[in-house]
Amino acid sequence: MTSASEISFDGVSVDFGDRPALSDVSVTLTERRIGVIGSNGSGKSTFARMLNALVLPTTGQVRVHGLDPAGQAKQLRRRVGFIFSNPDAQIVMPTVAEDVAFSLRGRGLSRTEVAERVAATLEAYGLTAHSAAPAHGLSGGQKQLLALSTVLIGEPDLVVADEPTAMLDAANTRRIGNHLLDELTQQLVLVTHDLNLARRCDVVLRFEEGRLVERGEPDFVVDRYEREHA
Ligand SMILES: Nc1ncnc2c1ncn2[C@@H]1O[C@H](COP(=O)(O)OP(=O)(O)OP(=O)(O)O)[C@@H](O)[C@H]1O
Ligand SMILES: [Mg+2]
Repeated sequence: MTSASEISFDGVSVDFGDRPALSDVSVTLTERRIGVIGSNGSGKSTFARMLNALVLPTTGQVRVHGLDPAGQAKQLRRRVGFIFSNPDAQIVMPTVAEDVAFSLRGRGLSRTEVAERVAATLEAYGLTAHSAAPAHGLSGGQKQLLALSTVLIGEPDLVVADEPTAMLDAANTRRIGNHLLDELTQQLVLVTHDLNLARRCDVVLRFEEGRLVERGEPDFVVDRYEREHA
């Protein structure tokens, strides 16, 4: 990771109508694995969505790897891969292989290069047997593996995953968790209610009612959250 791998929020608030979804968030992050926890409706997804300009600040400034989401959304989205908790939202092509290949469009790769990279990616995520299958016919867990494949084949500099294991069984949660936390080299922002995954990050942010109430060492932040919600 380079010094360009910096995420900074300066006095950021987001209002949807009358109630703030985020209030006055200021933070600078350079860690590789950034966990985000907090109660339902606390602002985690809003925070995550700001990292690829899906949500823009009402006030304040965001910088992601040197880019301003408010004016450079297109450049930013080329460098940020976003994984949603609902993988159906991410399927754009009929078959599994076509869906993964779609992520490589416009990169000037030959058909052979695309086919080779798609095959290697499907192999890595255990989807080879399904490559010609309809993407919408996969199981929930398989769809999440597909979503991960479509994002990671593009080699983003920052991976933002919003509850990527919400629909997965124990084995796939372990598999996806290990992959995101241990095998990726890119910076990762992982929004999760799985506190064991959060503990494995390098830093954890905790949101409550739209405010960033804690940022620190993962076990410390998670222990306190668990105590307060016991
Ligand atoms: N597009 C939107 N329009 C209106 N209100 C929104 C919108 N997106 C989020 N909100 C509101 O902003 C607040 C924060 O929502 P957000 O989705 O960021 O929470 P979250 O921490 O991700 O919750 P969860 O754990 O349930 O996913 C909530 O009160 C929510 O209702
Ligand atoms: Mg959310």
